[in-house]
Amino acid sequence: MITNTELEYKGNLYPNHIVDYVRDKDKFYFTTENGVVLEITVIQDRTIRFRYATEHAFQPDFSYAVDPNASRGYSHLDCTENQTEYIIETARLKVLVDKKTLRTQVSDLKGNIINEDELGFHWEENYEYGGNTVKMSKITQNTESFYGMGDKATHSNLKGKRVCNWVTDQYAYGKDQDPLYKAIPFYIGLHNGQSYGIFFDNSFRTDFDFAHERRSTTSFWADGGEMNYYFFYGPEMHKVVKAYTNLTGAPELPPLWAMGYHQSKWSYFPESNVKDIAKQFRDLKIPCDAIYLDIDYMDGFRCFTWDKTRFPDPKRMINELSEDGFKTVVMIDPGIKIDKDYWVYQEAVENDYFCKRADGPRMKGKVWPGECNFPDFTNPEVREWWAELYKEFMAEIGVHAVWNDMNEPAVMEVPTKTAPLDTRHDYDGHPSSHRKAHNVYGMQMVRATYEGVKRYVYPKRPLVITRAAYSGTQRFASTWTGDNVATWEHLWIANVQMQRMCMSGYSFVGSDIGGFAEQPNGELFARWIQLGIFHPFCRVHSSGDHGDQEPWSFGKEITDIVRKFIELRYELLPYLYTMFWRYSKEGTPMLLPIVCYDQEDTQTHFRTDEFIFGEQILVCPIQEPNAKGRRMYIPRGNWYNFWNDEVVEGGKEKWVVADIDKIPLFIKAGAIIPKYPVQQYVGELEIKELVLDVYFAEGAENSTVYEDAGDGYAYENGKYSLRNFKLLGKTNELTIQQFKDGAFITNYETFKIKLHGLPFKIGEVQLDNEKVAIEDVMPNGGNIIIVNKDFTQLRITAK
Ligand code: GLC
Repeated sequence: MITNTELEYKGNLYPNHIVDYVRDKDKFYFTTENGVVLEITVIQDRTIRFRYATEHAFQPDFSYAVDPNASRGYSHLDCTENQTEYIIETARLKVLVDKKTLRTQVSDLKGNIINEDELGFHWEENYEYGGNTVKMSKITQNTESFYGMGDKATHSNLKGKRVCNWVTDQYAYGKDQDPLYKAIPFYIGLHNGQSYGIFFDNSFRTDFDFAHERRSTTSFWADGGEMNYYFFYGPEMHKVVKAYTNLTGAPELPPLWAMGYHQSKWSYFPESNVKDIAKQFRDLKIPCDAIYLDIDYMDGFRCFTWDKTRFPDPKRMINELSEDGFKTVVMIDPGIKIDKDYWVYQEAVENDYFCKRADGPRMKGKVWPGECNFPDFTNPEVREWWAELYKEFMAEIGVHAVWNDMNEPAVMEVPTKTAPLDTRHDYDGHPSSHRKAHNVYGMQMVRATYEGVKRYVYPKRPLVITRAAYSGTQRFASTWTGDNVATWEHLWIANVQMQRMCMSGYSFVGSDIGGFAEQPNGELFARWIQLGIFHPFCRVHSSGDHGDQEPWSFGKEITDIVRKFIELRYELLPYLYTMFWRYSKEGTPMLLPIVCYDQEDTQTHFRTDEFIFGEQILVCPIQEPNAKGRRMYIPRGNWYNFWNDEVVEGGKEKWVVADIDKIPLFIKAGAIIPKYPVQQYVGELEIKELVLDVYFAEGAENSTVYEDAGDGYAYENGKYSLRNFKLLGKTNELTIQQFKDGAFITNYETFKIKLHGLPFKIGEVQLDNEKVAIEDVMPNGGNIIIVNKDFTQLRITAK
């Protein structure tokens, strides 16, 4: 136990006893004798905000992370006091505030402690910059585990680790290297079957220590700003993620093609090269929806220009690619070349849109074009200007989507890799230095990009991709994990990073498949594709200076394997789209580490490799060369091996065979998995029937299929098709009920139901309680039933 004297010695200050308490509707203010004010706001029954002021003064309340549309409201709220503490009670939680120390404790209604202050809030005055270093320390509970925190390339359970949030261009980063490209100061704690989350909404550099320095303590602190955090209660982990996502927002549904396979490289040019790549996809019948143009399409790396020698007529080229089913995605960076004859530069100078240093000159830094100035995206006027710059690209030339890169912002040839800390920012009317604006700079850039792209691809849906991110960026853009390396270790990292990002509210994420730096061999590439098709954003990208990284670059055997897996992704599109719909609507993470799938099973708490894709597909990548399979943990319940329908009982480790053409893949018993036919790109085929792979189970299981036009906004006005299936299995009977919602009429009329693992021979089939002739619904025999899509109940009974 650290004593107060020790603390003072270290320069820390801490609150003393409460002298005043005030309630204002859902807010409670506790003031201490030495001028600390704790503001507690009840956001929802399971979401509580804690905010601390020193010297009686809060800073203006402003957050880029919090979604202005986040829902609020509680069903019960009460505050009482006894001799030693105040007690705030919601329908889910009790918050105790200690009268002597201002320390807090959160418990469930039964009094089980979920989270409690150790030293609680304390601070150190910052004489160099002004303000405080604000700190919080919590007691680490017995057996507590920690998850979340964005893109950290380290073991998924953060217990015993210390991490830092300062968005950084970290080329060819290594395992455990930190910080990386994202700042997502949100973690999930799990102990005694209870899970909660903490989101420290502070855009300064933040640090988190998960029982690293002292085993009994978990703490977090920031270089400035306020101690301002949100507490979310589960008790289930997925509810914690949902509550966090509800606060910081989820993206709207992307166009369905964004869920296809995408091909990128630094760089495809000139036009003939782009066309050649596109042609090879079609010739080799490898599905692909998008081709990316990296910086070399620009004229001397000037954003919003074209190198006309390489791309003489971009509009025509994009149009021709479109006719062949390819969308074109272009890169835009934040650095604007200092060039008096360049119109973007001129406009920014005329309007005073560039960031300035403390003493007045424009902030300068080297990036691809040489010396650049950087727009201050934290100024709403600059964002509006930036959004408008996309008009010509999207509306006239026909570009489909945009990726924003280097938006940390990355600056070359300086040890800090970014803007000087004295750089000034508008911060939406709360002028600040770069210390405060750094972590949100890329987010505000991509927010402006999103506004512009959305405006000018309308009535289509936008797709925007970002490299840098702060909490809440998921509302505007998908993301990738930056410049990884073509090594087996990086395949492991990619797997952990994607799961972690999903647990951090950021599900629309992918890695540079195959690795950005260096060159994978065919085996690594194939293994990475096998994993990558189960990531929400699925794109091959590489630095291009070590050789080719297209599906056909590694010989015929690998090409065939890669094709097979990309085809599987296209078959699974309706399942993936339904996952996205859930994420977008409810904040449900698209990938679940198995601890989030079954937190009560303590064997899952330290697993890194296995994850659930959506809600019913278990995936576990092969992460080393020459493997014929691997040991993996199968979560509790019954699972079908996807490749041979063998049923395995979970709750244990198992050796799973997976030669180079397979990945360990299991389907939850009882699941109904929707599939489309393989298409070379989204929309190539009219879907004539929906395949439903039904995996028999005894008992009940729910499955969902969400569909809509795949683009445009009609779904917001009810033009969607939602099918909820309830499977009920018995030893001699299988019933599937369907509950439908929405006004979208799908093109197909029939379901092709493929029955897996049916334990009996079919004797009778009933549709909506009427017996039908078996030959009518099972014309081809086998276990395939073809029925009209509108049934409400299908019953199959044994002979
Ligand atoms: C950065 C990006 C990478 C891109 C390159 C050139 O390294 O992370 O994806 O290819 O810049 O634009």
